[in-house]
Amino acid sequence: MGQPLNVGIIGCGTIVAAYLATFPKLTTVKVISAADIDAARAEAVALKHPGVRAMSVAELLADDQVDVVLNLTIPLAHAEIALQAIDAGKSVYGEKPLAATTREARAVLDAATAADVRVGCAPDTVLGTGIQTARKAIDDGLIGAPISAMATMATPGPEPWHPNPDFYYVLGGGPLLDMGPYYISALVTLLGPVASVIGAASHTRASRTIGSGPRQGERIPVSTDTHVTGVLVHASGALSTIFMSFDAVGSVSANIEVHGESGSLVVPDPNRFDGDVRLRTLGAKEWETLAVSAGYLQSSRGFGLEDMANTAAGQEPRAGGKLAFHVLEVMESLLTAARQAKAVAIESRCDRPPSVPLI
Ligand SMILES: NC(=O)c1ccc[n+]([C@@H]2O[C@H](COP(=O)([O-])OP(=O)(O)OC[C@H]3O[C@@H](n4cnc5c(N)ncnc54)[C@H](O)[C@@H]3O)[C@@H](O)[C@H]2O)c1
Repeated sequence: MGQPLNVGIIGCGTIVAAYLATFPKLTTVKVISAADIDAARAEAVALKHPGVRAMSVAELLADDQVDVVLNLTIPLAHAEIALQAIDAGKSVYGEKPLAATTREARAVLDAATAADVRVGCAPDTVLGTGIQTARKAIDDGLIGAPISAMATMATPGPEPWHPNPDFYYVLGGGPLLDMGPYYISALVTLLGPVASVIGAASHTRASRTIGSGPRQGERIPVSTDTHVTGVLVHASGALSTIFMSFDAVGSVSANIEVHGESGSLVVPDPNRFDGDVRLRTLGAKEWETLAVSAGYLQSSRGFGLEDMANTAAGQEPRAGGKLAFHVLEVMESLLTAARQAKAVAIESRCDRPPSVPLI
């Protein structure tokens, strides 16, 4: 891949601003174009960011200057846009989840292999100092052999603040497919791949009310489970209990705790790049806050794309398609396990991504 890589963004909705705020910090990728099925959104991005040209999706895909497509569309469009980008000979880095289903995600990975282009996928929060410092603590043996983890994501759902929350409540959405990628990518980073899952889930309300923006007050249908719990059995034998809910007002539980034979770790919010890691060893009276010891300092959405651009040819990027596929299979299987009331084996395996030294 040539340096710097030229990036074309497809999907200029709510999250595009976070990526555009990161690009000035990145050195091996730069944005040259933006597209959206709603042309006005791409034009608004171009107007605000000199050097970025607005164009149609077809024009962006046909542009030889674009090396990588940054896919910030809604989950139901992730696979379709990724496949079009790959077909045009471009690498693709997309928002999570990799696709709405593992069937679509498999097609994306197979097409990328055949075309010899790369696939990367959010979340890249796991490359920040919060999760990476926790990982180093575990790898350095500070809690002894890891035995279990608990992951809690409890909110009333995104409709109070997101102006177009429809995608959160259809295939590819729900608390698990929306927020699960942060938590499960973190758990795989900390404890390794998952071998099987059990789960239970509920679907509490048929519709939700949009709380902000031009559509405020409009009711939208809900076709996903909105409260999902389960246990991930890691290949190592460690057990992670997860609680992902759009049916809770709030929570004071830690986002993630990891318990080992000689210590417990409080891991910061995996939807953030930073945050304190706290350790209590067996016999200690107090928790101690660990010094930041690993990860990209001051990182933000888009660091995974730069990390992919800096990954040597033939190597899997840290925020890569294989990890994202495994995480998607875990989530899909959890919902299957909940529906069928039985354990489901996970077929895919991925390595823990290489750790990030303190950079
Ligand atoms: N909103 C957030 O806070 C947030 C945070 C992290 C990740 N994400 C992820 O980012 C992605 C986008 O979320 P969002 O909140 O920006 O959604 P959004 O609905 O605000 O924006 C999505 C944009 O994609 C465009 N789009 C949809 N289908 C398209 C297609 N086929 N071709 C071209 N453009 C298309 C839409 O017109 C829209 O402008 C999702 O995968 C979401 O999970 C969102």
